[in-house]
Amino acid sequence: MIRPILCYPDKRLREPGKDVEEFDAELHALIDDMAETMYAAPGVGLAAPQIGVSKRLFIIDVATEDDEPSDLRVFINPEIVALEGETTFNEGCLSFPGAREDVDRAERVTVRAVDKDGKPFELQAEGLLAIAIQHENDHLDGRLMIDHLSVLRRRLLHRAMTKRLAVDAAQ
Ligand code: NI
Repeated sequence: MIRPILCYPDKRLREPGKDVEEFDAELHALIDDMAETMYAAPGVGLAAPQIGVSKRLFIIDVATEDDEPSDLRVFINPEIVALEGETTFNEGCLSFPGAREDVDRAERVTVRAVDKDGKPFELQAEGLLAIAIQHENDHLDGRLMIDHLSVLRRRLLHRAMTKRLAVDAAQ
């Protein structure tokens, strides 16, 4: 089932997620819904708080070319244990429709998490996957793309998003 995605400045996006404790059918249904919602958008990542579920869970699929097989990855109760290098990437976010912003991130990341059955894993990532992990992990702490911008860019993006809301409300 496709779930509605919350958009900035919705306050629920600011709530830190709680650890997932039950690895049951309900969790698996939530993950299925998140995948369906992300692919329909389309996006390369989606965190549970973006659909109003305040849990430490996100999904990523960086296989964006039409002919690439899907590469869905699920991160539950993740912890970033190492960050190395620096890079800047022009990011988007499903909670900021239409916006793209340059964000400074680490180039490589090591993350520990558990999978949908509660099994722990550790992953070292670079490239788009490393960017996406940092971006989605931010959502679990109530941190958003806009928080990484300069005061001026932040103000412009805030204005663009609130104007967009006003236009939607008028339609
Ligand atoms: Ni996002």
